[in-house]
Amino acid sequence: MIGFMGSGKSSVGEKLAHRLGYEFVDTDVLVEERAGKSVKEIFGQDGEEAFRRLESEIIAEVSKREGLVISCGGGAILNRKNMELLKQKAKIVYLRGDPALLYERVKSSGERPLLEVEEPRQEFERLFGQRKERYEESADIVVEVGEREQAEIVEEIVHLLGGAQ
Ligand code: S3P
Repeated sequence: MIGFMGSGKSSVGEKLAHRLGYEFVDTDVLVEERAGKSVKEIFGQDGEEAFRRLESEIIAEVSKREGLVISCGGGAILNRKNMELLKQKAKIVYLRGDPALLYERVKSSGERPLLEVEEPRQEFERLFGQRKERYEESADIVVEVGEREQAEIVEEIVHLLGGAQ
């Protein structure tokens, strides 16, 4: 699962895994376990580059496994190698949403270090603009999230995966 912050990669991914009888993993959670600290602390203490290195290390590991739904952090698409590794075995599902809606979902979470800036809404739009092509080109399957029920999104992914095998 790839997509911008707030697109629901983790919650939809977890439900999808359940539906498929797969295991669910979240790269942010695995990074935190390895680092022994939160994503926010890694960004604050070690910097974004250190976070990206750990994220790529985790992706290289999980991309070798089977029977998994993997929720990637929103910036995992920045490194092409991450997507190449995942594509060897996996289908990449992009949860696409309107940035204004996604921002409403994340604005008060306090867990997004990239939004700890003076004008977070502008930064959110800027990052989305910078990344959107990369999400599109990385994806095997694109699903609109909008204001839809997660169960419906899951069923659409299952259907599209059937056609994408
Ligand atoms: C990031 C998204 C976050 C997390 C980190 C960086 C990004 O994950 O990996 O804060 O660069 O978009 P979510 O997409 O799950 O919020």
